[in-house]
Amino acid sequence: MRCRATSACVLPEDDAQRTLTLLHEADAVVIGAPCYWGNIPGQLKVLFDRMVYGMMGESPRGIPQPLHKGKKAVLVSACTTPWPFNVWFNQSRGAIKALREILKWSGFRITSVIEKSGTKRRPALTDRDEEKCRKAIRRLLC
Ligand SMILES: Cc1cc2nc3c(=O)[nH]c(=O)nc-3n(C[C@H](O)[C@H](O)[C@H](O)COP(=O)(O)O)c2cc1C
Repeated sequence: MRCRATSACVLPEDDAQRTLTLLHEADAVVIGAPCYWGNIPGQLKVLFDRMVYGMMGESPRGIPQPLHKGKKAVLVSACTTPWPFNVWFNQSRGAIKALREILKWSGFRITSVIEKSGTKRRPALTDRDEEKCRKAIRRLLC
């Protein structure tokens, strides 16, 4: 956690630092993640682990301090499990929960969540999916 004390990563510059810079400049973020084992993919988890010092600070007593307060976020996840099992059994819902946890402590306000279930049988976006996307964009812009 030296990075949190110094607000800088000790590792050589790579995409983690570059992504964090972009996040600091952004007013809003759209995160899309397939559901892997009822969670987000390991690579995305590692990216957030690497960016922890720029996402959430801590008071001297260890109280979390969100560093992106008031920014908006849209969460998108896809899974092969069909509805409603993707929700009941925490499939795409599990990935969304994991993202919510990270973004909540970082101060983001989640304006929309889009879950695409049953991608094995229906991989393409339906008209309803597209309408959900349009609605999410409208909410993001207002
Ligand atoms: C490693 C791995 C784990 C997965 N785990 C789940 C899972 O737990 N539940 C599920 O419904 N689908 C799971 N899937 C399927 C993906 O969520 C599904 O492929 C999703 O629609 C992503 O689309 P893509 O494969 O085109 O990226 C998994 C896929 C992979 C590769």
